[in-house]
Amino acid sequence: VLLRPAYLDETVIGDSLPWDLYTSSGVLVATAGTEIADREHYLKLVNRPLFYRTEETQEEPNPASRVSHLARELHDLLADPSQPGLGELLANAADELISIVQFDPDACLGLLRILPMQSPAVRHCLLSAAISQGLAEQAGLAEAEQTSLAAAALTMNIAEMRLHDDLARGLAGYTDEQREAIRQHPLRSAELLRESGVDDSSWLDIVEQHHELMDGSGYPRRLTGAEITLPARILRVADYYVAKITGRYYRPPASPGQALKHAFGNDRSKLDSQVAVVLMRRMGIYPPGTLVRLENRETAAVTRHSDHKGNIRHVVSFLDHRGNAMECPSDRDIGNKVFAIRGVTQPELNWPEVDWPRLWGY
Ligand SMILES: [Fe+2]
Repeated sequence: VLLRPAYLDETVIGDSLPWDLYTSSGVLVATAGTEIADREHYLKLVNRPLFYRTEETQEEPNPASRVSHLARELHDLLADPSQPGLGELLANAADELISIVQFDPDACLGLLRILPMQSPAVRHCLLSAAISQGLAEQAGLAEAEQTSLAAAALTMNIAEMRLHDDLARGLAGYTDEQREAIRQHPLRSAELLRESGVDDSSWLDIVEQHHELMDGSGYPRRLTGAEITLPARILRVADYYVAKITGRYYRPPASPGQALKHAFGNDRSKLDSQVAVVLMRRMGIYPPGTLVRLENRETAAVTRHSDHKGNIRHVVSFLDHRGNAMECPSDRDIGNKVFAIRGVTQPELNWPEVDWPRLWGY
């Protein structure tokens, strides 16, 4: 018997549960046939990862392996922009990303944040694309525009991937030449995509505009406000946020809460404020993939958004109080003071190997 992730959307409100539901460790939470009376009841139920039991072993779409596969594929595509058919391959990668986000947004975001990846620059694009997709759905962008946006997010820095990697790793100083390459990368990336057969003008516009800022202090054209298209403003907010929460060699990653403080503080006039509000609601201060230390000294991962304000109630512990990998990752209710969150943490080199997909039930 296997435990499989159970996805309950809001249509179950007013209806009854199709399965017995369990926690990741196999504790029964609710039985099949339970009536979900109202939204409150629904939110209480779905604020933790839920699973159902199945005998089936057939291959199901597994977001964890799809995320890893997509990351490797994108790495190869961006490393060799001269390959034939690049534009179409990149468009397919964008479709795949949207499909994973729609299948399991929390696992997609969380795994993109913490799965090991070769290139920080590739991780950056994938994360920006996943977050943009969530914002685009909320902003009501048409489906075709969502596809263009995802493709733009994956390819926004295609002309300077190596430089982005070197900067992220601290291998490149900030010479005048590098500074100029950075300034030109939106235009050069769009140019490279055009040469690779991309003719979607929305995709190309978004790439060209992804560093423009609302107050006109961006680059390369110093556009302001509504001169910047909505999808480009969405990508700017996502790109900004991802840069903050992943850090740079010269500054450690900000916690997701600190990143929002910057977005609504010093950088307020640079970002589209409506988009930033949607970001805040979706991410909260503990978005999926955030690692936390608990009062009982365990280390846990945030795996799910639990309500529409991005608040969470449960985390999944994977290292015990001595720092050893737990045999069975366990749900912890952070409302219980034994498991209260002490602070946000980052993966450390001396950690044992962690089976990250398992924290999301894959
Ligand atoms: Fe960029």
